[in-house]
Amino acid sequence: MSVRRLAEENVQPAAFAFSKENAVWAKATIKKYPKGREQSAVIPLLMRAQEQDGWVTKAAIESIADMLTMPYIRVLEVATFYTQFQLKPVGTRAHVQVCGTTPCMLRGSEDLINLCKKRIHPNPLTPNEAGTLSWEEVECQGTCVNAPMVMIFKDTYEDLTVPQLEYIIDRFDAGKGADVKPGPQIDRIFSAPVGGPTTLLAPEKKPAAPRAKKVSDAAAVSVPPSNAARVKTDAPETDPALKTPATAKSQSAANDKVSGETRAEGGADAKPVAAAAKPSLEDKNRPAGIAKPDAPDDLKLISGVGPKIEGTLHELGIFTFAQVAGWKKAEREWVDGYLNFKGRIERDDWGKQAKALAKGGEAEYIKVFGKKPR
Ligand code: FES
Repeated sequence: MSVRRLAEENVQPAAFAFSKENAVWAKATIKKYPKGREQSAVIPLLMRAQEQDGWVTKAAIESIADMLTMPYIRVLEVATFYTQFQLKPVGTRAHVQVCGTTPCMLRGSEDLINLCKKRIHPNPLTPNEAGTLSWEEVECQGTCVNAPMVMIFKDTYEDLTVPQLEYIIDRFDAGKGADVKPGPQIDRIFSAPVGGPTTLLAPEKKPAAPRAKKVSDAAAVSVPPSNAARVKTDAPETDPALKTPATAKSQSAANDKVSGETRAEGGADAKPVAAAAKPSLEDKNRPAGIAKPDAPDDLKLISGVGPKIEGTLHELGIFTFAQVAGWKKAEREWVDGYLNFKGRIERDDWGKQAKALAKGGEAEYIKVFGKKPR
């Protein structure tokens, strides 16, 4: 870890004071700790000072030390130890923290860092000319599954590419960072597999087992009983005689499922069946959309809908529980195919969930399902 020092004297403000609102908050926070243990509030107070001024100044450290009756050096130790505290002024609109730890590095974080050098400033922790943006490389932020990622203020932006990060930086620089949804920037819900779950799905209809070949009595006799026990499977057999190895192979191929894709007969050499094509937006079964109402329903209350899917539904003009509840089977199938959900809409029974939510919100949902939504 690099040496962390306070900013030069010439950039340090002469004094620090919490705003009226923050002062009330600080007082209440200190009160949460038992008498004699008020110093435990040092980290929240330093964090609030940083949120207020953008960075932790020497004056803030001294002021907080006074509030907690701590020696200045003790608060300085805390502020210089934890890297989430910025000890120098950073970008006023965004300080981009790029994770450079191994998983993110293997997934392209160096390109993201190069973009920051080009778009913001060649050096980390140095604001751009306008003072609006700065960047630094940080250690793992705990979203390695969705690498590479950056953190801006308290939000993470994941599954990034260079153009996506450039777009995010541009939005923040324009003061419109709130337009960008935090989290994965691709089609995935939180850390679920891209395109939807591939495991722990409801059992699918098994393909019909290939008809067992009737073996001749002579062949049956030729299989020793010990081998016979080994090749026997639970699959239905038309002949009580034992399967030949060839029969067992075709049975195994028929039952073989890998990551939701069914292998064609032929086993390991066969190619996976191609994924179904995304249904057309012009399809007659596409549910009718509406203009965005002033207060759209929170579709995320439907189990299986996360922020990303909700965004896609909005793009389709779906904003209310009543719309989802009113979908006919063909329409549900269209949406399911469009989201590449592989039957999840039926399995999660979006129709029933949406009907309950449309009728009486969370209370009705609890009445119907015996639990809170999501
Ligand atoms: S390695 Fe980047 S978030 Fe963990």
